This record gives sequence, C-alpha cells and structure tokens, in this order.
Amino acid sequence: MMTSKRKLKIGIVGCGAIGSSLANEIVTGLRNSACLVALYDIRLEKSKLLSWQLAKSSNFCVANLETLIKKSDLVIESSCAKAAWEIVRKSLSNGRKVMVMSVGGMVAHLDQLFVLAAKHNAQVYFPSGAISGIDALKAANIDGVRRVVLTTRKHPDAFKGVDYVIKKFKLTGLKKDKVLFAGTAAQAVKYFPQNINVAAVLGLAGIGMHKTKVRIIASPAVRKNIHEILIESKAAKIFTRTENILHPQNPKTSYLAVLSAIATLKQILQPVKIGT
Ligand SMILES: NC(=O)c1ccc[n+]([C@@H]2O[C@H](COP(=O)([O-])OP(=O)(O)OC[C@H]3O[C@@H](n4cnc5c(N)ncnc54)[C@H](O)[C@@H]3O)[C@@H](O)[C@H]2O)c1
Repeated sequence: MMTSKRKLKIGIVGCGAIGSSLANEIVTGLRNSACLVALYDIRLEKSKLLSWQLAKSSNFCVANLETLIKKSDLVIESSCAKAAWEIVRKSLSNGRKVMVMSVGGMVAHLDQLFVLAAKHNAQVYFPSGAISGIDALKAANIDGVRRVVLTTRKHPDAFKGVDYVIKKFKLTGLKKDKVLFAGTAAQAVKYFPQNINVAAVLGLAGIGMHKTKVRIIASPAVRKNIHEILIESKAAKIFTRTENILHPQNPKTSYLAVLSAIATLKQILQPVKIGT
C-alpha cells in the first residue's frame, strides 16, 4: 500500500525580504514536502500583499501570532530582533519547531531558549546566514578550538545610523580602511546591531559570545559585505571569506542569508542530510 508522507505545515512571522523569499520557495520548490499555512506581519498590509502575490487571495493571512502558532508545525521567525524572543518563546511553549532569523534577538535569552526547547521537546534552527565555515567550526569544536576571529568589511555607508560609530568616527570622505571595532562577539552584538546575526551565529556555533573575537572595518573600496573567518583548532586551521551580494529588497540583508535559510528548510525536510 502507498503511504503519502504528511507535509510540514509552515507559518511565517515577518513578511519582509526574508519572509517573502521563504514563502515563495515553500509554495514552489518545496511544495511536495511542505505547505504554507499562515503569514503574519505586524503590518497587516504586508502579509496581505504577500498572500495575494502567492495565491491571489488573502487566505494565508492570520490576524495574530497565536493563530499562526496553532496552525503551524514549524514557525519561521523573520521579523526583527526586538520581537524575536516573544515569537520564539510562544512557539516553543506550544511545542512547535522554530527557525530563527533574528539571531541577535536571542543572545539575551539563550539559557531560557535551551530550557524551553528541551522541556517541550521542540527543535530550534539557526541558519548559517551570510557566512561560511559554520560546518567546519561545529566539527572542530568537538575537540579543541583555540581561536575564532571574524573580520567584517563594509562600505562606510553601511554604518550610517550606528550610534557607536557616529559618536567615535567621522567616515565621510574616508580614503583608507578604518578599524571601527575590535572586541568580543558579545560586545559586537551590543554596539553593531547590523552585524548582530553573523557574530551571534558564529559565537553560538563555536566557543561562545565572549571568546569569539570580532573586527569591524569601514572600507571605501568595497561594495559588498565581506566576512572573513579564521578558526584555529586541534584538528585544522580554517580560513573562509564570503563576499556578499546584497538582497535587492533590503540592502541590509545579504542574499546568501536568504538562501541559507532555504537550505536549512531543505535540510529539515529531506530524508538524506548532507553536511555537518
Ligand atoms: N540570520 C541571518 O543570517 C540574517 C541575515 C539577515 C537578516 N537577518 C534578520 O532577519 C530578520 C528579517 O530580515 P528582513 O531582511 O526580512 O527584514 P525586513 O525589514 O525586510 O522584514 C521584516 C518584517 O518583519 C515585520 N515585523 C516587525 N516586527 C514584527 C512583529 N513584532 N511581528 C510580526 N512582524 C513583524 C516587519 O513589518 C517587516 O515586514 C531581521 O531581524 C534581520 O536582522 C538575519
């Protein structure tokens, strides 16, 4: 007798650049193994627009987070750092799987997150995002990672509106690279909200937010967001460099981060899992 596998029901909270791309992929490329059941955005017009683009109706829209959680097996959080913990907390408390994009929003709640996930037998997924090397870092971290250093280079314009930079530096007319910050991932998350996700994922996957080192450089010559990672461990010395193209809908988000979230979804859905 043929048995058809039940599709994973997915709800998306936050219908911006990342949420929209993921919703599109779920109803096209992943439709054999997953189905989109709900969209929620604090700006209702955004979830409505996305629903109409996907299904020519507002069928996917729900009025609140609670309804979305009820309908979903997996909740994708793609909203903002400030709202993320509430979304994750409520989803885990209801035993839902959660994929978290606003990783920086979790840093202050990590202990509770681990406890809640274990208590409700729920899974939490953090995609690698706009960096490469998380796979090797996880493996190396089984036995003796000594050092992890992230060096991020961005055009000076990318730091507009960052309070820490406004107070300390004048970047207009910058001709040469300028180091804006050198410290721990924990400090970087505090001072550079724009880099929060990359530094947080790296800290979480490896030796922690306080031991992971971060350097942030304003570079007038670059047009992409470049992340270099150096890992020194018992097993290997690893160096990765990722030159990110920016997402056309939101220049603060790297396109690779969106694809990384889609790849994580595929990893969840497929029976054969490749890579660490
Ligand atoms: N993990 C990574 O690698 C990575 C990479 C880039 C961005 N991000 C993060 O992912 C999140 C989404 O990024 P984006 O580029 O799609 O942003 P975006 O600004 O394009 O979209 C965010 C959407 O969330 C909605 N929203 C905000 N608060 C909400 C709430 N309380 N409830 C429901 N909806 C809410 C907004 O109205 C907006 O439509 C951000 O927090 C961003 O920092 C993560």
